[in-house]
Amino acid sequence: MTQRILTAVAWPYANGPRHIGHVSGFGVPSDVFSRYARMAGNDVLMVSGTDEYGTPILVQAEKEGLTPQQAADKYNRIIVGDLQGLGLSYDLFTRTTTNNHARVVQDVFTALYRNGYIVPKTTHGAISPSTGRTLPDRYIEGTCPICGYDGARGDQCDNCGNQLDPVDLINPVSRINGETPKFIETEHLFLDLPAFAEALGGWLSTRSDWRPNVLKFSQNLIEDLRPRPITRDIDWGVTIPLEGWKDQPMKRFYVWFDAVIGYLSASVEWARRTGDPEAWKKWWTDPDATAYYFMGKDNIVFHSLIWPSLLLGQNGAGDRGGEPGAFGRLNLPSEVVSSEFLTMSGSKFSTSRNTVIYVGDFLREFGPDALRYFISAAGPETQDADFTWDEFVRRTNFELANEWGNLVNRSVSMAAKNFGGVPTPVAPTEADADLLATSRAAFASVGDLLGRSRFKQAVGEAMRVVSAANKYLSDQEPWKRKDDPERQGTILHTALQVVSDANTLLTPFLPHASQKVHTLLGGEGVWAAQPEIREVSGEGEDREYPVLMGEYAAEQARWQSTPIVAGRPLGTPSPLFPKLDPKLGETGPEWAPIAQ
Ligand code: MF3
Ligand code: ZN
Repeated sequence: MTQRILTAVAWPYANGPRHIGHVSGFGVPSDVFSRYARMAGNDVLMVSGTDEYGTPILVQAEKEGLTPQQAADKYNRIIVGDLQGLGLSYDLFTRTTTNNHARVVQDVFTALYRNGYIVPKTTHGAISPSTGRTLPDRYIEGTCPICGYDGARGDQCDNCGNQLDPVDLINPVSRINGETPKFIETEHLFLDLPAFAEALGGWLSTRSDWRPNVLKFSQNLIEDLRPRPITRDIDWGVTIPLEGWKDQPMKRFYVWFDAVIGYLSASVEWARRTGDPEAWKKWWTDPDATAYYFMGKDNIVFHSLIWPSLLLGQNGAGDRGGEPGAFGRLNLPSEVVSSEFLTMSGSKFSTSRNTVIYVGDFLREFGPDALRYFISAAGPETQDADFTWDEFVRRTNFELANEWGNLVNRSVSMAAKNFGGVPTPVAPTEADADLLATSRAAFASVGDLLGRSRFKQAVGEAMRVVSAANKYLSDQEPWKRKDDPERQGTILHTALQVVSDANTLLTPFLPHASQKVHTLLGGEGVWAAQPEIREVSGEGEDREYPVLMGEYAAEQARWQSTPIVAGRPLGTPSPLFPKLDPKLGETGPEWAPIAQ
């Protein structure tokens, strides 16, 4: 059944290039999911962009002697390039520093405010005693008052997952300069989370199909709901559309408040860019549409608690009621799909500790599909996973090059050499029928797994078809059947059909390689569409910046077995996945050497 599916992908901060840990959380999973969903005939809208406000960008800009906007411009461009290189098929990848985004954020806020879900409060804000500047929550570190973990941040404890208030930290220190912060009185606007307790609880109780760790974590969060500030003493963010607030240079929305609203603003922008300004509604206000949110686990709270509360409040559907705001009644997430963390040889990816592998470097040397495969097959889907060069080399060489690449190459070249194209099958045997049945059955099983974001199992099932085909070839030995061309042709026809099927099954994971195989099998045109970088400017803005968009509806890939046509000419194969030097597994590449 055709469904409208919103794929909402976490917005990377524009404060540096992305490393492979980042894209294993939000990037590759969301793209594999979306590509499959489109192939299965659904109407997918996949949106995201760079997250450009807040302290993370200020801090980076200062380090580089740039203005915050210059820093955001620089990393927005780099990130867009990386995500394009990985083949992430966004319908729109934009940014948060657009006029459109600010307006949508302000409209959502206005609805929340009118419905009574925003309360002002005087709080204690931290400032740096030496500079007098405000010190954001996440730049304060100390001991968690709840679990005693001593690396807790002012906004959240990563150990117990609780939201914190920096004044509650034991022994707070500034992560910027190590000073003990001073706390002063300042007024802020709070989202009244307790007013969503019932609505959230009811909604979460219907989410039984979520990954158990995500559901559990989210359910725990609603045990202890407290009002949460949505403004900050900062001059880099979306302005607050209220008298007494809008002209204050040091009052802005908190970056997480504006960023989650980006899913909506990017959809609105996409609709305008495609010439049908109302089109976003088909994904947001039609109750039959579904919405899947992809991210790493440190983002769960914002997507399973804060964002649903904002939506409920905008809709006038919190425990205090109200009227829908400017956007009408918006859909809540169908699922929050969160990954765990990718570590590198045991340590958490961190730019500072030199354990970082940047996406850009990776793509230049190994191309996109080997990384997409590694993340899908061995990534942090439901538990933390370790990236090692050894494992990367092993999977690339044995699974992609030997198993899949060789199957394609030997089937295509044997058929081309002996028959000049796809041979005609005659009197198929039981072995032929069995193999074909295996690959046909995989469409249902792999598709079901992909629809539920079970990527590891899905890629395993798809590769099982590849192994079955390899075994079939070793058993049938078509290379020994020169004297029986009918049988030889039938075997090769069967093998090519299964190559075609396996290629379809692997397309969500390996979209670039799948395009090559499509062409090798005599296909023409675009099998799997890729995102394109377009230079645009926003409404009322005089700047140009890159966004990602694409013509995905025109791609040919469909989630079904496509009969190969006897007599069709075949292409000349070259290695689909060149083998890596096993030494790489011991040393790592020059730009990311393994510490000896
Ligand atoms: N920029 C955040 C991070 O990198 C993610 C923002 S997701 C959004 O952790 F929903 F807020 F956009
Ligand atoms: Zn804690």
